[in-house]
Amino acid sequence: MLLFYLIVELSIVPVTVVVGSQWGDEGKGKIVDSLASKSSMVVRFQGGANAGHTVYRGEKVYKFHLLPCSVLHKGVKSIIARGVALDLELLLEEIKQIENDNLDIDLVISPQAFLVLPFHRWMDKLEELRRGQEKLGTTYRGIGPASTDRIARRGIRLGHLFEDNLLDRIKTLVGRVNAVLDGVYSDVTKRKINPQRLYEDLIKQRELIRKYVGDTHNLIHTAIENKEEVLMEGAQGSMLDLGFGTYPYVTSSHTISGSACVNAGLGPSQISQVLGIAKAYVTRVGAGPFPTKMNDEWNKKVQDKGKEFGATTGRPRDCGWLDIPLLRYAHRLNGFTGVILTKADILGGMGDIKVCTSWNWNGSEYKDVPEDSRVWDEGVPQYVTLEGWPDFSGIQKWNNLPEGLRKYCDFVESSSGVKILAVSTGPGIDDIAWKE
Ligand code: GDP
Ligand code: IMO
Ligand code: MG
Repeated sequence: MLLFYLIVELSIVPVTVVVGSQWGDEGKGKIVDSLASKSSMVVRFQGGANAGHTVYRGEKVYKFHLLPCSVLHKGVKSIIARGVALDLELLLEEIKQIENDNLDIDLVISPQAFLVLPFHRWMDKLEELRRGQEKLGTTYRGIGPASTDRIARRGIRLGHLFEDNLLDRIKTLVGRVNAVLDGVYSDVTKRKINPQRLYEDLIKQRELIRKYVGDTHNLIHTAIENKEEVLMEGAQGSMLDLGFGTYPYVTSSHTISGSACVNAGLGPSQISQVLGIAKAYVTRVGAGPFPTKMNDEWNKKVQDKGKEFGATTGRPRDCGWLDIPLLRYAHRLNGFTGVILTKADILGGMGDIKVCTSWNWNGSEYKDVPEDSRVWDEGVPQYVTLEGWPDFSGIQKWNNLPEGLRKYCDFVESSSGVKILAVSTGPGIDDIAWKE
């Protein structure tokens, strides 16, 4: 009986979290766009302008870095929660693009979101330069340095721009930055940050952003209390999670579903659905281990057909075969209630395809990702070969999907333990086939 009430209670709790299950760029933006019209609000809860979420309207392409992918939907509130690394300069540019298209923007930003300042972007570059061969391949969006300042409790939050002691706060932070520039980076630069100039720039940006600042926490909880649908939009992917990803080749935030709780201020019991987005293959941009990377010929074929070039940096994304141990791992980390498989159309017409079902390391077989990171680095993927499927795009009914693809979905479900809810069949908002 208790279980029955628990299930009934859960089914009416309206929060859905959308997260990437791989190394990012799985198509989260497209899926959020497809689901947004059913929601009263969409909340970006972590990451920053390192993200690039692509949404199509006919031929027109929008690449959102900070704005939630709901901004094109009338009647849906877009929220930037406190866990987001907020680069005001870039956000204002994004807002301008939307306004240039004569679209109204219903956006509320948490005053507790932390700021990425221009020197953070610059220091991101300097640090990558210092790492040389060991560089992480960051997006240069200042995410690491800004998150470091946040965690060291010296960062500047959006709300601080409205407080009287802003200049003092900036002077303290910049004083430290200049000392670091002197001590650590003096061999590559003699430049110093001018706190007064930074203050003046921030005051100008403050006036432009002022109308969007509001109490996001109360808005989110009021919506939940009113049983409205709330969609939480994750950025990056589970393998880029600061704690559980391929450290140090990760981003500086938690990207897994639990991050929605700590970064937007919810409890786990308030989340009813976790949707994992998984490409039918895998891509990775930036450095770090990538066990199932395809050979050059396949890599090029999939990259070209899938237009696998970064939405933020334009860098080519490396392509690999679907990795079941990673998907099982992502399932454990996120507790997926369902998975949406994207870009299955790209593998169509390419012949037989491979899937990695385990990794071999030091004489042992691994179906689950172990905590020993040497297995990530040195494990040899073990593949099965599956029949492919013909070329197609834009199918909207499950039963119309090619048989080979439906078999692929069955295989992925039985080997990984995830439940596939839908297959995305093209970049457009309606290109999706839900499993009945
Ligand atoms: P995100 O960061 O997870 O939002 O993904 P990106 O937008 O960076 O990259 C995904 C790319 O694939 C975008 O260009 C999307 O328009 C595109 N896309 C998403 N789903 C599909 C799909 O099912 N088929 C095809 N062909 N393209 C897709
Ligand atoms: P979306 O939300 C793909 C990668 C970078 C680099 C690493 C660290 O579009 O899926 P950072 O700039 O965060 O310090 O870089 O993380 N990375 C992404 N890769 N998609 C993303 O976002 C990414 N955001 C960061 O390429 O390897
Ligand atoms: Mg992306």
